[in-house]
Amino acid sequence: MVWRGDPPTPAFICAAAQAALNAGDTFYTPNLGEPALREALANALPQLHRPVSPDRVVVTSSGVAALMLTAQALYNPEDRVVVVTPVWPNLVEISRILGAQVEEVALELQRDEQGIARWHLCLETLLHPLTTDCRALVINSPNNPSCWVMSAQQQAVIPVHCRRHGIWIVLDEVYSRIVFDGLPEGCASSFLDIAAPDDRLVVINSFSKSCLMTGWRLGWVVAPPALMMYELGKLILNTTAAVRPRIRAKSRSGRG
Ligand SMILES: Cc1ncc(COP(=O)(O)O)c(C=O)c1O
Repeated sequence: MVWRGDPPTPAFICAAAQAALNAGDTFYTPNLGEPALREALANALPQLHRPVSPDRVVVTSSGVAALMLTAQALYNPEDRVVVVTPVWPNLVEISRILGAQVEEVALELQRDEQGIARWHLCLETLLHPLTTDCRALVINSPNNPSCWVMSAQQQAVIPVHCRRHGIWIVLDEVYSRIVFDGLPEGCASSFLDIAAPDDRLVVINSFSKSCLMTGWRLGWVVAPPALMMYELGKLILNTTAAVRPRIRAKSRSGRG
């Protein structure tokens, strides 16, 4: 099956945006995003993953902005950052722009029993450079451009190893809902399924792909509480300074 990201944004989303503009929703919002939207995103996650508290959710002006903010919050020049590749180039470039030393761990192309070529992540190869002097591991799963999806078995091993070595995991999940092989809930499994709230895990997502909203520039981050107000909040205040979209309460007539 081929997925396309270029059909128009669904009409109900456009109508809600038009109604919001007409209602005068055009002013500054709280830095970390409208509380109701953060709560709605947190409430949507348990249907897919373990529950997440709304104060761990930050709304950002796109997935790529979420990736840059996360990197700015975490990396110092010369930090070692391990990135699983091939990957959408921005994930490597963002680290380099901030002066980090990027080490790539390459997926391998292997043939399965039917002779079909599939991308595979060798755990041993990945874990080797993940030592205590590594600042972060960056993974994009489901992966652009390879379509590789991390297995549940790898998900069980990687966070335990990173926790032991104090390594941050930055997980780009913008394609988490674009899966075609009958995964439960139509969503790829995530480290969010197993992580504790204080784990050094930052998960990036976006409305671009799953809601066909590429031009709208709207994403979100799930991060541990320690990273929220003083790191991500400070950076958002000095960049986009809050994103407008919010959840509108239903009117009593049931409309709106
Ligand atoms: C893997 C990956 N992450 C992030 C993004 C950026 O998403 P957004 O449109 O929300 O900035 C893209 C866009 O193509 C992508 O392929």
